[in-house]
Amino acid sequence: MKRMLSAIKPTGQLTLGNYIGALRNFVKYQDDYEMYVFVANLHCITVYQDPKQLRKNLKDAVALYIACGLDPEKSVIFLQSDVMEHAQLGYIMACNTYLGELNRMTQFKDKMAKNETGLTAGLYTYPCLMAADILLYDPDYVPVGDDQKQHVELTRDIAERFNNRYSETFKVPEPLVSKVGKRIMSLNDPLHKMSKSEGNDKGCVYLLDDLKAVRKKIMSAVTDSVGIIQIDQENQPGIYNLLEIHSALSGESKESICNRYQGKGYGELKAEVADIVCGELEKIQSRYNEIISSGMIDKILEDGANKAHYIAYKKLAKVQRKIGIEINKK
Ligand code: TYM
Repeated sequence: MKRMLSAIKPTGQLTLGNYIGALRNFVKYQDDYEMYVFVANLHCITVYQDPKQLRKNLKDAVALYIACGLDPEKSVIFLQSDVMEHAQLGYIMACNTYLGELNRMTQFKDKMAKNETGLTAGLYTYPCLMAADILLYDPDYVPVGDDQKQHVELTRDIAERFNNRYSETFKVPEPLVSKVGKRIMSLNDPLHKMSKSEGNDKGCVYLLDDLKAVRKKIMSAVTDSVGIIQIDQENQPGIYNLLEIHSALSGESKESICNRYQGKGYGELKAEVADIVCGELEKIQSRYNEIISSGMIDKILEDGANKAHYIAYKKLAKVQRKIGIEINKK
């Protein structure tokens, strides 16, 4: 069976973008692949997090993974920092990555361009840790949204470089980006990605948002003055985004939705999208409440960390032998 690995970084609550671009795909794939999914808590702290809030966000993320359909019997679910090999290999990866490569990462470049202050060294070297996250497990595929593709491509470059320098060690993984829903945009600024870190709550639907608030956000989504429901991403990015959300969740093609909406107004489309999103979130939230009160999370994370560690420690030991930092082990 081929293997997949992915993660989400819960710097805040998980978003509809995380769900459509990533989480729901993990759920689809778990029957056909050996699936490793973790909560990227080391990545969270590249930006300061209030410790109490962070603890809650991490627990919520695990509960949401399961509420969205990840099954701990089928997928290995764990917390990144519970498997210490991630940080250790992350350092080794940083020693095999060039500054020029990190300077080219668009996420970091965007933050620099905005003149954000207080950017940490951890944020800069984050792609090296992400490479370690992936390469420890030799996955065939890494399912991600569009914005993470560049990081997976860097991971491939690092793996190939390492394999050439030290002989075959890592499987070179492929990013897997789904056609529909790979980049869900902000509802009130459809030229920017829907994101928890933008501090833009009106444009971002959170999986645990009150459903009335979700409906309001969707009904107030920024559109345009063209007045026709059609596929025109360049001139009607807001409508395109609503069609994308609809299509990703309902499975109906954007063309078919547009055909049904000939001669109808934006308000009706928004109401239908709101119904679909709220229907999906309602199911997720009710499962989430059961999971949180069941106390099952600790056991799931313990089992997951044991399974993940079993693979990760062997890979790290192999890497350390190859690069020559061990004395007694050959
Ligand atoms: P993160 O936490 O920013 O996002 C998690 C996943 O959700 C996808 N995503 C989106 N997809 C569509 N539309 C959006 N608006 C949207 N927002 C987020 C992301 O593409 C991603 O797939 N560095 C990673 C976490 C990570 C990781 C890894 C992923 C750490 N180690 C190893 C894969 C493998 C991150 O910050 O994702």
